[in-house]
Amino acid sequence: MSAAMQLVGVVAVTVAVAGWLAPVAEASYDADQNKSSTNFLFRGNLPVTDNHTFAKEALVARMQQLAAEQNLTFPETFYFVDLSLLDPFEVADAEVEIKYFKEHPNEGEYINWLTVGDVVHPEELPVEARLALARNLSHWQMDKLPQRMGAIDALLNSTTVHGPIVAYIHCEAGMDRTGEMSGSYYMHALNWTFHQALAYDDSIETRNISIYSQNAFQWYCYFLSVTYQPWQDCSLP
Ligand SMILES: *[C@@H]1O[C@H](CO)[C@@H](O)[C@H](O)[C@H]1NC(C)=O
Ligand SMILES: *[C@@H]1O[C@H](CO)[C@@H](O)[C@H](O)[C@H]1NC(C)=O
Ligand SMILES: *[C@@H]1O[C@H](CO)[C@@H](O)[C@H](O)[C@H]1NC(C)=O
Ligand SMILES: *[C@@H]1O[C@H](CO)[C@@H](O)[C@H](O)[C@H]1NC(C)=O
Ligand SMILES: *[C@@H]1O[C@H](CO)[C@@H](O)[C@H](O)[C@H]1NC(C)=O
Ligand SMILES: *[C@@H]1O[C@H](CO)[C@@H](O)[C@H](O)[C@H]1NC(C)=O
Ligand SMILES: *[C@@H]1O[C@H](CO)[C@@H](O)[C@H](O)[C@H]1NC(C)=O
Repeated sequence: MSAAMQLVGVVAVTVAVAGWLAPVAEASYDADQNKSSTNFLFRGNLPVTDNHTFAKEALVARMQQLAAEQNLTFPETFYFVDLSLLDPFEVADAEVEIKYFKEHPNEGEYINWLTVGDVVHPEELPVEARLALARNLSHWQMDKLPQRMGAIDALLNSTTVHGPIVAYIHCEAGMDRTGEMSGSYYMHALNWTFHQALAYDDSIETRNISIYSQNAFQWYCYFLSVTYQPWQDCSLP
């Protein structure tokens, strides 16, 4: 039985970006599902406090608030999947999260998906070359967006002995790598157009997504356009 309702919201945990708010997008909803065992997916920035501790309280408070705004019941007990997109240069921040889950293994786990974006802008290439590369994206893209989307689906379709899953996608600022991964998910799972997903990313962030993250996100759109979403318009708006 899949836990079919997914929630995509923005959680800001640091003082610097505490003003962030964004609407919560809802995926599918299975009426048979016990709402209290629903899995959730959120996005945001680095969940580390100024005191260099894991910002679990602030995160959960914000998640509860976002769920309540959508009339959803946030689970009292859950398994937290910390989907970090940090790179090896950000090890000091990652260590805080890794240490937390090492000390609280029943509360969840830390997963690291190195996410660096793409240097090549897909629209710079001739159409034939672009589409050939798009078809083969899962073989060459560093960020492995096609595989990552499958992994997020599998995650959101599972539950644990510790309860439903609350997954949190984040990088440092919650804008570029997080926008790339989340934006890809909006297209893949919520059936948003590339233009909608990009506009949403740019609207909830304090600045536009970086070009490398945008390239990777756009490559993923071209991948969708040659696979199961042939109607996608992947050109920049
Ligand atoms: C839903 O799940 C909760 C917690 O596991 C349980 O207490 C409750 O009885 C369930 N409700 C239904 C309708 O299955
Ligand atoms: C940091 O620690 C100080 C002293 O314990 C405390 O007063 C403060 O609230 C903490 N700040 C955060 C963001 O946790
Ligand atoms: C939540 O419920 C309230 C009261 O029934 C309703 O006014 C509101 O539109 C609902 N919000 C959403 C996002 O469904
Ligand atoms: C797909 O990419 C891989 C890795 O770069 C390469 O070895 C393979 O030849 C490519 N396949 C096609 C059909 O282009
Ligand atoms: C997850 O569940 C959805 C529907 O609930 C289904 O369409 C999808 O194929 C499932 N994905 C995986 C990876 O199991
Ligand atoms: C996804 O969106 C496209 C275009 O907006 C639409 O044609 C298609 O029917 C939608 N697919 C689903 C499964 O809702
Ligand atoms: C962000 O992107 C939008 C749409 O692509 C554009 O209209 C806007 O000027 C950009 N904003 C900044 C600050 O670059």
